[in-house]
Amino acid sequence: MAGDKTTTYKGRNIDVQWDSRLCIHIGECGYSAGDLFVGGRDPWCQPDLVSDEEVREIVKRCPSGALTYNDKAQADNETPASCNTVQVVYNGPLYIQGELHIDRAADDMPGVRYRAALCRCGQSKNKPFCDNSHLKAGFEDYGAVGEKGDGLEIEGGKLTIKSVTNGPLLLSGSFAIVASSGRIAWQGKQAALCRCGQSKNKPFCDGSHNDAGFEAD
Ligand code: FES
Repeated sequence: MAGDKTTTYKGRNIDVQWDSRLCIHIGECGYSAGDLFVGGRDPWCQPDLVSDEEVREIVKRCPSGALTYNDKAQADNETPASCNTVQVVYNGPLYIQGELHIDRAADDMPGVRYRAALCRCGQSKNKPFCDNSHLKAGFEDYGAVGEKGDGLEIEGGKLTIKSVTNGPLLLSGSFAIVASSGRIAWQGKQAALCRCGQSKNKPFCDGSHNDAGFEAD
């Protein structure tokens, strides 16, 4: 079944849904071994050719939340990762995983309750989500993180992400920031992360959005 924005690939026990609004073509699906996703095949995704467990595992690799699954035997499908993490991508967006509550996320985007790629170059036309505009804009930030945060008292729980008007992303909850090197660099409960692309202390906001006249909203 194909909609304007989403396509559903039906399986006996489990369906896979792809959301064109969120996909930034990272390729975790296309590069996966096995027959679930095969480029050039029609249909591209065939859930019945692999086990249900493989469907769940491969779909959850999608960092943007564009892919989701609907396991027909389960009332509740995907569950959040046990820790909330923000991965700073080299010259790219923020990959966020966990129990996500993103303001302005449409109700019919189930994937971004667990996984999302958020713009940090300031150029996306689909804010707060990344749309790969950083490539055309030549956004450069290698993803180092210099601060450490106050540490974690608990792991996991709700992580709220608000877009401050013409300003940063405000994250509240219990979460870690992972540098692009893979190092867990920062742990804490609240951070304002740059989404204008201009901060000199990325991934954190340093107020440069004001001087830059950043207009996001
Ligand atoms: S949002 Fe970029 S410096 Fe504040």
